[in-house]
Amino acid sequence: MSATPSKPGDYTIHQTTDLPLCYCFNVKEQVVVAAIKAKNLKTVREVQQATNAGCGCGCCQPDIQVLLDQHAQGKPMGIKVPVIEARDAKPPLEIPPPFA
Ligand code: FES
Repeated sequence: MSATPSKPGDYTIHQTTDLPLCYCFNVKEQVVVAAIKAKNLKTVREVQQATNAGCGCGCCQPDIQVLLDQHAQGKPMGIKVPVIEARDAKPPLEIPPPFA
């Protein structure tokens, strides 16, 4: 389900995780995805009523909408996360030897 990133800065879709999607109500992404699929939810409001996700500060509502859009389009569902690859990492700084 994960797309292979082609270059740094690309985004990939991860599989749904048990990480919270909504921190205000500690609702996990898997719970939201399961509710959308099982109840064929179409709006953020319906997700709020079904799971409580998005009922607090509202910061997670765009993520809920992403999941709803993915479901509506028949795409794999998951929140996009930036790809950080080891090849982008800089080598550690060389520390010069102490004065002899
Ligand atoms: S993080 Fe979901 S309502 Fe605040």
